[in-house]
Amino acid sequence: MVQATEAACAMPAKHLPLLLLLLLAPAASISIQTEQPHPSNTSLSSRLSTAQSREKTLIQRLVSRYKDVGLLGRPVMNSSDLITIEFGLAIIQILDLDENRQLLRTNCWLRYTWRDPLLSWDSWAGSQFENITQVRLFPYDVWTPDIRLHNFADERLLEKRMARVVVYSDGTVLWIPQALFKSTCPVEIEFFPFDTQVCFLEFGSWTYDVTQLNLTWFGFEYEQFKYEPNPYVDFTNYIKSNEWYSDGQDEFRTRPSMRSRQIRSRIRCTNRTYQAANGQLYNRTYKRLEYKIRMHRNPHFYLSILVLPCILLSCLTWVIFWLPPESPAKTQLGMNIFVAFFILLLLLAETTPSSVRTFPLIGYFYCLNMVTITLSTFLATLVINLYIRAEKQGRLHPLLRRALLEGLGRMFLIRQAYPLADKQQQQQHQEQQQSPTR
Ligand SMILES: *[C@@H]1O[C@H](CO)[C@@H](O)[C@H](O)[C@H]1NC(C)=O
Ligand SMILES: *[C@@H]1O[C@H](CO)[C@@H](O)[C@H](O)[C@H]1NC(C)=O
Ligand SMILES: *[C@@H]1O[C@H](CO)[C@@H](O)[C@H](O)[C@H]1NC(C)=O
Ligand SMILES: *[C@@H]1O[C@H](CO)[C@@H](O)[C@H](O)[C@H]1NC(C)=O
Ligand SMILES: *[C@@H]1O[C@H](CO)[C@@H](O)[C@H](O)[C@H]1NC(C)=O
Ligand SMILES: *[C@@H]1O[C@H](CO)[C@@H](O)[C@H](O)[C@H]1NC(C)=O
Repeated sequence: MVQATEAACAMPAKHLPLLLLLLLAPAASISIQTEQPHPSNTSLSSRLSTAQSREKTLIQRLVSRYKDVGLLGRPVMNSSDLITIEFGLAIIQILDLDENRQLLRTNCWLRYTWRDPLLSWDSWAGSQFENITQVRLFPYDVWTPDIRLHNFADERLLEKRMARVVVYSDGTVLWIPQALFKSTCPVEIEFFPFDTQVCFLEFGSWTYDVTQLNLTWFGFEYEQFKYEPNPYVDFTNYIKSNEWYSDGQDEFRTRPSMRSRQIRSRIRCTNRTYQAANGQLYNRTYKRLEYKIRMHRNPHFYLSILVLPCILLSCLTWVIFWLPPESPAKTQLGMNIFVAFFILLLLLAETTPSSVRTFPLIGYFYCLNMVTITLSTFLATLVINLYIRAEKQGRLHPLLRRALLEGLGRMFLIRQAYPLADKQQQQQHQEQQQSPTR
């Protein structure tokens, strides 16, 4: 054994020179190659300078033009001009609605378009950049609007994935970044699991007010190339969610002006008053686009774990009242149903938020059933107690007997098989009074 291991260890040592040779061989060949002059050195560089460069020179020119004027400042010719940003929201996926923390996670595409006079060039025939109608630039090389999600609720500070901007020769810029948003959403679960949630996503410029930036809806060209602004969340590329059904997913082909089911988004303005250093007050109005998404919960899962057991158990609650009180099965069944309802209530508590304004109605129903069963069991036990006590002591206290048989018995229209005690006593009294006179 020892010899064998020694031999194994010795193996690499023997072959070491060979290995070294093998390792060095490629390096040597590389060094040999680099020493050789490149045959197509001149022709390659000349090809680069003619064919490829028209687009590259255009981009270089656009970027350097931007470098000269600086990235900051809106791309307008006159500082009193408004820049109009068309903004659109396309939803790709509803990832999750966290009812407990009231957060909605969505996968979205944002669409921006605006006109930037600094990014226009001549593309007509005969000009230097003939046939180049569009180029792609990095968004950090050009001015981009600071439109933010206002009801943002994310730990990550960066919301967008970097995407290049597409620039057309007339200066129109199209920018479609992808983003995963986590936004606040007021959750109402009164009708859980048949509930409908309306979540909103509010976008607006964080710093520019209406005198500097005009925010409007992103437009589409629908049939017959009719351009229409789209004040709805776009569901064209939507991937259907298993848990949520949204109105928009069946209506995305309809023209915006013909849509009826989706909630129309609206423009909201807020006025803020600021105080300048010299004490002068001035008002600023900020414009925001409020997109709304209506989602209906798919109740199939909850139907089988929360609703169906509840219906069956409610039927059993009725059955309890058919059992005679002296049967021990009555209390046993009652307690079993009670425990079953309690488990359902725990299940419900797990799936619904614990801090809400309205408790789900189905939860109230469970509680009511539990109250009914408790009362039934309590009364059955009372009846058994009275029954056993009557057997032992022979006679019920007259007051209790009167209250139970005359008061409650009449109230619940129970047939009275035997005369009441005091009536018997009265009869006896009468008989006793009559007998001496005889
Ligand atoms: C070939 O390219 C090298 C650098 O890549 C350059 O120094 C050299 O001048 C070029 N040769 C010719 C003939 O242009
Ligand atoms: C900018 O616009 C204002 C008002 O529209 C106008 O009075 C002014 O002449 C313009 N300035 C330039 C440089 O065009
Ligand atoms: C531009 O396109 C036209 C038609 O496709 C073509 O005839 C012309 O040669 C193109 N010009 C350049 C510079 O590529
Ligand atoms: C903003 O743009 C929209 C659409 O282009 C236009 O109807 C509206 O008048 C503009 N608002 C201002 C204040 O210019
Ligand atoms: C904000 O101010 C504008 C005028 O500056 C006014 O027309 C608008 O009604 C105000 N909006 C609100 C919500 O106060
Ligand atoms: C700003 O708005 C307030 C009311 O919201 C109004 O009283 C005030 O006059 C406004 N100031 C200016 C400079 O418009």
